[in-house]
Amino acid sequence: MAKKLLIVANWKMNPGTQGEASSLAREVAKGTGAVQGVEVVLCPPFSFLGVVCEEKGQLKLGAQDCAAEQKGAFTGEVSPSQLKGMGCSYVILGHSERKNLLGETLGQIAAKLQAALQAGLIPVLCVGEKKRGERKDVVRQAGAALQGIAKTNVSRLVLVYEPEWAISSRKGAVLATPEEVGKAVEALRELLSTRFGKEAHGIPILYGGSADSRNIQGFLQEGNVQGALVGAASLRGAEFVRLVKNALLV
Ligand code: PGA
Repeated sequence: MAKKLLIVANWKMNPGTQGEASSLAREVAKGTGAVQGVEVVLCPPFSFLGVVCEEKGQLKLGAQDCAAEQKGAFTGEVSPSQLKGMGCSYVILGHSERKNLLGETLGQIAAKLQAALQAGLIPVLCVGEKKRGERKDVVRQAGAALQGIAKTNVSRLVLVYEPEWAISSRKGAVLATPEEVGKAVEALRELLSTRFGKEAHGIPILYGGSADSRNIQGFLQEGNVQGALVGAASLRGAEFVRLVKNALLV
């Protein structure tokens, strides 16, 4: 199991300006500067990667998506090797908003995952069911997205269990219980062990979906996760710093 906790901030298409992105990154870097035992990753929109990189201090940089190719005639796309060159270490892949709003398929996600690994990025693969409790679907998504991943690459993967119904921006979102998170994580661990053997033990599994400074400890303690993917709560600097500090108290 990963020794360090991993907290990934998914800013989505926020904030509105470069100045705001810069000051949010500065606030988080300053607030978590002295904190040990946790890796904090900021994933701003592509357009703010440069300014966030300048302000990030000890934090890591990540993107929210990447292309499945390293270069070429792919209008509007950004390649994993370009992201690596801009200072990214991580890339979020397979977020449900991309699947639902843009029609991204599990096959495309699998190809992006391979390309990200090839470029030396750590993929943060999101899986999660639409309908509460459909754990089989969570395992199916992970199985398909990890298709073709070599055992030698397993130590460079991160998985996120992010049930769609728990994402804060969704209408009628409800918070997952640490117990149901634990069950989904157990099912994912089983898949990983079957697929990759003991190599898979070190893969961090995170929780995503309305995580904040008040509920983070429950997910870490009873949900058996090694960190979180944080949306809305990562856009408020003080709240996000509190979340990181509370996570370390577990
Ligand atoms: P949320 O978003 O923390 O606002 O629920 C998480 C995500 O969609 O990654």
